[in-house]
Parts: sequence; structure tokens; C-alpha cells
Amino acid sequence: MIYVVANWKCNPTNTKEAKKITAGILAAVKSARGTETVICPPFCYLDEVLEAAKKTVKLGAQDCFWEESGAYTGELSAWQLKDVKCQYVIIGHSERRKYFGETNEQTNKKIKAAVSAGLTPILCVGETREERVGGSITQPIEAQIKEGLAGIDVFQTAVIVAYEPVWAIGTGQACSVEEANYVRQFVNNILGDKVAVLYGGSVNADNAVSYLKDAKFNGLLVGGVSLKPDEFSKLLTNVSEKPKNKV
Ligand code: PGA
Repeated sequence: MIYVVANWKCNPTNTKEAKKITAGILAAVKSARGTETVICPPFCYLDEVLEAAKKTVKLGAQDCFWEESGAYTGELSAWQLKDVKCQYVIIGHSERRKYFGETNEQTNKKIKAAVSAGLTPILCVGETREERVGGSITQPIEAQIKEGLAGIDVFQTAVIVAYEPVWAIGTGQACSVEEANYVRQFVNNILGDKVAVLYGGSVNADNAVSYLKDAKFNGLLVGGVSLKPDEFSKLLTNVSEKPKNKV
């Protein structure tokens, strides 16, 4: 089974549009085989997606707070997300790190909270363009993994890692399959094969399959294209298992 995780980020700006995108995605998911599709809308649309989704797709959040409850204005806890039927939560996305200064230590607290609340965390890791140009791709990723997952027994806990090269996110410049495969192997060498590893960063209907077949990722984290139901549907069709021919 492969994961296709739709990260809507801070989009769209109204409920009508959120419902339209959800309906488009659901229509495609019904004929997709062998995939677990997860929609991660902004918090305010979780209910709309849930109501439309029934059991066709899983629900995810784009972030969570590490305390269960209390005087933390503006935060949403992992337990609250679990209560509104989320099953997954993206943690440590590069946009959280860049715009909100999220550290590996904070990411680790969020991962621990998510696991305690019964959510499956999707830990995002990836190098910036500067780190890449400076010749260091695996070093920041190793730190993000080791510090982000400190204290988590990955053999006993459902955890997903998403490799998202920061320079590839939203730029239309997806990482080459060879380089992505190299990093996927690096992640598996640290964490073993039980942890699912996704690729994200300018994934589209045309390049999606090669990350799964050639680079052996267990799924995809899709941003921009997940807001375009037609292209997202093509992507789902391309990556889903083809029916076996009867002999
Ligand atoms: P993108 O975003 O597909 O638009 O590059 C991916 C992500 O940020 O998760």
C-alpha cells in the first residue's frame, strides 16, 4: 500500500472551495487501488472534509501542539485533533521551520504528543538549497531524524518520514529520482525498513510514479497539485495498482 498525502497548506480561503476540492479528490479516490489517501486541510475545514470523506480518505492535520490542553492561545493539541477524527499529522514541515522558527526539539515534543494521542506523525525532513550547495545534504537530515525522533521506538511505533528537499517545494523543480533514492536509502539505513518514507516537493501526475517505482518511496506528500482535483486525480490513477488481467 502506498500513501498519498494531500497537504493543502493555508488554502483555500472559503468553505465552498474546500468542498469542491474534496469532492474532486473523493471521486478519484473511489477508483484508486492500493493507496491510502490522506487529506490534510487547514484546521477550519477538517469538519467539511470529514463529513464528505466518510471512509474513503483519512484525515490529517498540518501541525499540532505538544501539550494536551491549557493556556496556550492559538494552539491545537494532538488530543483535540484525535477527537475530531484526525489519524495523521504532518510535523516539522519546512514552512513551519522557516516561518515559525520550529526547532528539532519542538518537532520532537510534537511527535511524542502525536504518538501519545494515537495519531501517526509524518515527520518532514530535507535540506535547504544553501545546505545542498555547501555540500551537506545528509547531515541536516540526519539531525532532523535523530533529534526529531529522539525517544521514539520506531520499531514499535507508527511513524512516517517525508523527505522534502526544501528547494523543491512549490518550485516546480522536483528532486531527481536518483538523488531522492539516495536520501531514501539514507533514511532507511538510519531507521530501518519498517518506517514508511514519502517523497515530497513538486510532485505531479507525471513524475509521481518514478518516485514510487524507481526510488522505492512508500508514498508521496503532495502540496500544490492536491488543490487541483483534475491533476490530483490523474496522479492517483497513475500511482494506483492496475487491475490484474484474468488468465
Ligand atoms: P509542493 O509542496 O507539492 O507544492 O511542492 C509539497 C509540500 O510542501 O508538502
